[in-house]
Formats: sequence, structure tokens, C-alpha cells
Amino acid sequence: MYILGIESSCDETAVAVVERGEANAVRSEAIKSQDELHAPYGGIVPEIAARTHYEVIDLLCRQALQQAGLGIKDIEVLAVTLGPGLVGSLLIGLAFAKGLAMAHNLPLVAVDHIAAHVEAPFISHKHIAYPLLALVVSGGHTTLFHQESKFSGSVVAKTRDDAAGEVMDKVAKHFGLGYPGGPLLDALYEKGDADRFRFSQPRMSDGGDDFSFSGYKSALLRRAQELNMAPGGQDFHDLLASFLNALVGYLLDKTLAAAARLNVRSLIVSGGVSRNALLRRRFADACAARELPLYLPEPRYCTDNAAMIAWLGYEKYAAYPNLNYYDLYLNSYSRASFRESKRHR
Ligand code: KG4
Ligand code: ZN
Repeated sequence: MYILGIESSCDETAVAVVERGEANAVRSEAIKSQDELHAPYGGIVPEIAARTHYEVIDLLCRQALQQAGLGIKDIEVLAVTLGPGLVGSLLIGLAFAKGLAMAHNLPLVAVDHIAAHVEAPFISHKHIAYPLLALVVSGGHTTLFHQESKFSGSVVAKTRDDAAGEVMDKVAKHFGLGYPGGPLLDALYEKGDADRFRFSQPRMSDGGDDFSFSGYKSALLRRAQELNMAPGGQDFHDLLASFLNALVGYLLDKTLAAAARLNVRSLIVSGGVSRNALLRRRFADACAARELPLYLPEPRYCTDNAAMIAWLGYEKYAAYPNLNYYDLYLNSYSRASFRESKRHR
């Protein structure tokens, strides 16, 4: 069965066709990144994001079908991101998907964006044992989920302020390095001495398990000011490398503590930041030492993409065949809410 997935929650417009059932593979992907449009502002401008989705979504859909060698008549199910994300962006994908569903009388499966990030490693790893712990770490989210099964789980910890990727983006913006900051820090890491500067890990005043990242940013900016650093020098590279290493160490320590406490059988790390080379290496080493199976998405499925939407759309369609997928009164949601904390279905 062919499923066409549509993703437009943030600043990537993406359409993908996957084949599920007997064959399980991504057949095509068309994606338009808006990085260069938002770069001059050092962050996403929601109005530009929504307008750009509107301009390209139809073309991307045609491209995805063409690359797969298929027509819309070959598609049996549509899957679309319902939320969370920028609501103006989400609505473009949703309205487009509703139009396609109505015109071709196709079932439309609504997919939660964060749940789709958790699904991303399943594209290349068919069997991942439950219960599992999933760290979704991106520009919009840093959340640890405990999943008893694909559609049943709860939040173990989430950030109380910025997301990890957001902190990297803000730091890069502050120093005029460009946007998005994560890949830039990734590329600069090898130039610096990651052990030179220390950053202390935050503790929640109420003793909770949540994450907090804003203190890392303040500490970095304070250090840079104290030492009168300008971008480009060795001190600067040492500071950035130490900062990245500290962020990864913090994510790793908290994730491993939760994994041990909850006695999970697998660990998933996904979302844009899971593309980071240092993160992938440090998580792989730590999990190997503990004999905890670790599953990371392929790099292109770490950041926002439509293959993960179509993949989870199929899973939901197969697991809940009696839901009404012809109900076109679906509405987007901007914030992770009940769906995130209870069962993100
Ligand atoms: O998953 P994603 O595409 O969008 C959200 O759902 O937020 O994640 C984007 C985030 C950005 O903050 C970006 O800086 C970060 O992922 N990112 C990275 C890397 N590639 C993207 N962070 C660290 N290292 C990377 N290689
Ligand atoms: Zn995302």
C-alpha cells in the first residue's frame, strides 16, 4: 500500500511517498528547506514560513508522486501533520491534505509531529523492543517519553524553557554565525578543545526531572564577555566546543538516568539535534557500555521530513482501522498538550 505524507509544521515543506505492508520502504521524498529565507533574521519568521509552504506544497506533491513513478490514483492513504508547530504553517499542509482527500475520496490520517519523530528510527529498524525511552531533541522540543507501546506512553521530562536546538540557534544568532545554529556548532566542534571550559548542570529548584537550557546560554555569553572573545579565534572555538559537549553531556546523563530507573529495553534519540555528530558518538559509546540498544534515525530523518509522517500514518491506520479517517473537520494545534503527555495518537 502507498501512503503519501505531508509535513509543514515549521520551516520545511515536505511530501513523501512510502510503501508499507509487504514492502516497507520510502519510495520518494520532495523537500523544500526555508533555511536561507529565515537566515537573515536568525530564526523562523512565521509569516514567511506559511507563505512559502503555500507557494511550494503543490509542486512538491507532484514531484514526490513523479519520483515514485506513481499517480494520485495509486495512493491509498494520506497522512498529514496536525501539530504541534506554527499554526499558520500547519494549516497550509492540513488544508492541502483535506483538498486532496476530498477530491480523491482518500482516508486522511492525522499525525502528531513529535510522535512522528519517535517513529523515525523505525524506518530503518523494523524491530525496536518496548518498553522504550525516546528523547526527542529539536529546535522546538526537548522531551523524554516512556513508551510501553507505539501508541501508549507518558512524558518523563521536558524542557521548562528553551529546547536544546533553540539554544544553539540563539547562540549562533548572538555571534552572527548564521542560521540554523545546530549544524554550525556541529561543524565548528572539531576546531575547539571541548574540555577547556566547564558548565554546571542545572537542577530544578522543586527537585523535578525536567530539562532547562537557558542557563547554558547565559553562562556561555557571560564567559564570552568576560574573556572579551570575538568569533573566529581559538578561545572562541574552545568555548563553543565546550558548550556543545556540556549540552550533549547533560542530555546523555539525564536520559541514561531515566533509562536505568525505568528499566527500558531500547533507547531512541531523534529530532533535529540527533543529527549532531558528537551526540551520536557519545550516546552510542555510553549505550554500548551499558548494553542498551540505541536507535538513531538516519541523518535525513532526524530533521523534519514527511517520510516519518507517512510511516506513522500507516501505523495508526493499521492499528486503528475503525477510526473515521474521512472526517475533514480536523484542526491543527500549535502546542504539545494532552496528546503529548498521555498518548500521542
Ligand atoms: O526536528 P527539526 O528539523 O525541527 C523541529 O521540530 O524543531 O530540528 C531543527 C533543530 C534546529 O534547532 C537545528 O539547529 C538543530 O535541529 N540541528 C542540529 C543539527 N542539525 C539540525 N543541532 C545540532 N547538530 C546538528 N547537526
Ligand atoms: Zn521536528
